[in-house]
Amino acid sequence: MAEFALPKNSKVQQGKRFPAKPGAKNVREFRVYRWNPDDGENPRIDTYEVDLATCGPMVLDALIKIKNEIDPTLTFRRSCREGICGSCAMNIDGTNTLACTKAIEDCSKGDVPIYPLPHMSVVKDLVPDLTHFYAQYASIKPWLRTQSAPPPKERLQSKADRARLDGLYECILCACCSTSCPSYWWNGDRYLGPAILLQAYRWIVDSRDEDTGERLDALEDPFRLYRCHTIMNCTRTCPKGLNPAKAIAEIKKLMVERRS
Ligand code: SF4
Ligand code: SF4
Ligand code: FES
Repeated sequence: MAEFALPKNSKVQQGKRFPAKPGAKNVREFRVYRWNPDDGENPRIDTYEVDLATCGPMVLDALIKIKNEIDPTLTFRRSCREGICGSCAMNIDGTNTLACTKAIEDCSKGDVPIYPLPHMSVVKDLVPDLTHFYAQYASIKPWLRTQSAPPPKERLQSKADRARLDGLYECILCACCSTSCPSYWWNGDRYLGPAILLQAYRWIVDSRDEDTGERLDALEDPFRLYRCHTIMNCTRTCPKGLNPAKAIAEIKKLMVERRS
């Protein structure tokens, strides 16, 4: 029987342990994926003991504390600290989510495992390479496209039409959904994935956009859209409570409707 094994240089090894300061009263362990492209070493898991008595409540607070007080080499992205920018997306306690909105006390008991978003190339430590993801976003032309002459002031929208964007405009492009999608893991080179398809749908249903037909044409492809098999991981994982699987289903429905 064929045996498969990871290449030697991608086996994750046990890393260093950083014990809490003596006298720490409320210690929680964070087991964090580390990889540095410049040192030629294998990835490793470092264990940090953090005193929660002197730490904010969110996983991002713990990471910032580790970086500031324990190990300045730890690398991760963050910006807004309030679930708006999407840059702190990572895999925490087995789920893709935002470190800034994930409370430490909501993680399962015991140590807290933290990895980069799965199935993406890693730039360093917890930082995934989102180059391809953003190129896919650019490919759907995510801006208002019109042919008619612009009105003197602005393109208006009824309240009902505006409401059709609810559940779509809130997407912060964190990539938690796409990197939880098995179809995207295996076909991410050609399948657009839930985040980008939700964004595509956001423009398709915008009453002010006049390129709906062309937008649907661009998705009429065995890979770009139809690799979604309704597994629903995307909707389960979205930290903003959005439903990319539904948006994808709506695009498929529009495809059928325009054929009939
Ligand atoms: S749909 Fe949700 S999980 Fe996906 S990119 Fe948007 S905010 Fe992130
Ligand atoms: S519903 Fe579609 S997009 Fe969402 S996880 Fe499943 S296959 Fe991926
Ligand atoms: S830091 Fe902006 S979403 Fe977490």
